[in-house]
Amino acid sequence: MNVANSIENLKNAFAGESQANRRYLAFARKAEQDGFPQVAKLFRAAAEAETVHALNHLRIMKEIKTTVENLDAAISGETFEFKKMYPEYLSIARQERKNDAAWSFDMANKVEQVHAGLFTKALEALRSKRELPKTDYYVCSVCGYTPEGGPPEKCPICGSPKAAFFKAP
Ligand code: FE2
Ligand code: FE2
Ligand code: FE2
Repeated sequence: MNVANSIENLKNAFAGESQANRRYLAFARKAEQDGFPQVAKLFRAAAEAETVHALNHLRIMKEIKTTVENLDAAISGETFEFKKMYPEYLSIARQERKNDAAWSFDMANKVEQVHAGLFTKALEALRSKRELPKTDYYVCSVCGYTPEGGPPEKCPICGSPKAAFFKAP
């Protein structure tokens, strides 16, 4: 086993642990709906543990840098997604007539563009030695749209009502 292998393995393990975290949280919600609150609790506990593993891998890969560098990485990731990845996925889903997949890619595509804008604003603030002005962020539970200040009457991306929004912690 050489160093190159372990770096590749950390990357793959980070992806797997991150996915396990979200998968277990989804399974916990389902267990809750199915009337198994203790199973839900187990899924949530395991989900937290997978986050510990994911963060260990990420830290050891030295992917957590200064906040300016992290914002730069976030902007690159979001931009890749809305400029290249999701447009391609969306066009393939449309060709294949996979309407549900097309919807999901389209929602994410539009929201990543918003994220890139928000992160860019944050980066500009930090570069002029300022912190962002104080505000609350809201999240649309249907499409992930992330407005600042307050929730709109109607989500501009998916059309959901105000009640679909929650305040980000
Ligand atoms: Fe794990
Ligand atoms: Fe995003
Ligand atoms: Fe929405």
